[in-house]
Amino acid sequence: MATNLKINGERLWDSLMEMAKIGATEKGGVCRLALTDLDRQARDLFVEWCREAGCSIRIDKMGNVFARRPGKDNSLAPVMTGSHIDSQPTGGRFDGVYGVLCGLEVIRSLNDMKYETLRPIEAAIWTNEEGSRFAPAMVASGVFAGVFDLDYGLGRADQDGKTMGEELKRIGYYGDDEVGGRPVHAFFEAHIEQGPILEAEKKTIGIVQGAQGQRWFEVVMTGQEAHAGPTPMKVRKDALVGAAHVVGAINKIGLENQPFACATVGMINSSPNSRNVIPGKVFFTIDLRHPDDKILSKMAAEAKAACDEAVAKNHLEMDFKEIWYSPPVKFDESCVAAVKKGAEELGLSNLNIISGAGHDSCYMNRVAPTAMVFIPCEGGISHNEIENATKEDCRDGCDVLLRAMVERANAA
Ligand code: GLV
Ligand code: MN
Ligand code: MN
Repeated sequence: MATNLKINGERLWDSLMEMAKIGATEKGGVCRLALTDLDRQARDLFVEWCREAGCSIRIDKMGNVFARRPGKDNSLAPVMTGSHIDSQPTGGRFDGVYGVLCGLEVIRSLNDMKYETLRPIEAAIWTNEEGSRFAPAMVASGVFAGVFDLDYGLGRADQDGKTMGEELKRIGYYGDDEVGGRPVHAFFEAHIEQGPILEAEKKTIGIVQGAQGQRWFEVVMTGQEAHAGPTPMKVRKDALVGAAHVVGAINKIGLENQPFACATVGMINSSPNSRNVIPGKVFFTIDLRHPDDKILSKMAAEAKAACDEAVAKNHLEMDFKEIWYSPPVKFDESCVAAVKKGAEELGLSNLNIISGAGHDSCYMNRVAPTAMVFIPCEGGISHNEIENATKEDCRDGCDVLLRAMVERANAA
C-alpha cells in the first residue's frame, strides 16, 4: 500500500463540529432523532458535501443514502462504508455521525490525492440505527440485508403512532431505489468504542472482531387504578410495583451473568402518572446483551420468570413481547485483517475488541464481508451529551478506514 495515503484530520474534525450544530444541546451534545426535521437538515448537509466532492447520490425506500465515487471499473460491486446520523435524545457528537463523515473524508482525500480505485466507493447513511424513536435499532440496514421486509421497516411507529414510512415522505427521504438486493464487495464502519477498554488499555485502534447479541422486549403490566388514600395496601393491584420488581431483577440478571452480560430497563411509562392514583398500567422495555447466544437465551428466560413473578405477586396482567433479536456477530476475517493491516502500517497501537453496542455492520455482515474500526471515547461514555473523542483519534481511525477500503477497492 502506498505509504502516503492519508486523510485530512482537520477537515474531518471541522465537518464533525459543523454537523454537531444540527440538533446541538446546551450540554454540548446532540438530539437528532430519526426522521425529524433535524435529521433532514443533517442529511441535506451530507448530500451537499458529497455532491461537492463529485459523488452521485442514490436514496432507497428506507431513506438510506448512498454517495458514490466512481472507480476505474464501475461494473464491479462497490466497497462501502457508513453509519448513522440519528442520535439518542441526549446523544453525543460522535456516535454514528463519525462513521458517516469518515466515509465522506475518505472520498474527499482520494479526490485530493487524485487516487483512482478499481472499484467504486460508497459512503452511506443508514436510517434509524439508534432504535430510540422507532424500535428496533438498525432497522434500515436490516431491510437492506433482507433481515426485515420493507413493509415491516416502513411500518415501525414512534410513540405518537407516526410511522417511518410517513416520516420519510414528510422529510423528502423516501427514495426511488429498492432496498438492498445489490452486491457490495466489502463493508467497513468506523465508530467510537462507546465503552472504556481502548482508553484503559491506552490503544488507539480497536480491531472489532464481532458484536454481542441483543434481545429487546416490551412489557405492559396492567393492574387497577385506585385512590392512593382510601385503598388499603392489601387489596391493591399496583402495576408500578410490579415493574419495580422487574427493574431490580433485570439488574440482578446482568450482575449474575458476568463476565460480559448487560441488562437494562431503559424506558418506563407509568399511567396515569398522577401522585395520588395507584398506577394502573406500566409500559417498560428490557434490553439484554451477551456475546454468547446460549447465555443470552438463558438471560431471556430469567427475565420472563422475573416478570411472571411480579405479575403473580401483585395480581397483575401482562403483555410480554420479544420485539427484537439480533444474534451475536462475527465479522469477516479478511476484512478484519485489512483493518489490522491498516493500523499496523500506520504504526498505531491496537487491540482486538468485541462491540458492546449494535451497529449497522451487524446486518451488513450478512450480505457483504464486513469489519469495523473503533477509536476510544473519553471515559468510555456514550449515549450521553458529554460523549467525546479526540481530533487525533478521529483522524487515526479514518486513516485506518481509508487503507482498509482502498485495499478492498483495488481487489478484482
Ligand atoms: C445502539 O446504539 C445500541 O443500542 O447498541
Ligand atoms: Mn452508533
Ligand atoms: Mn447509539
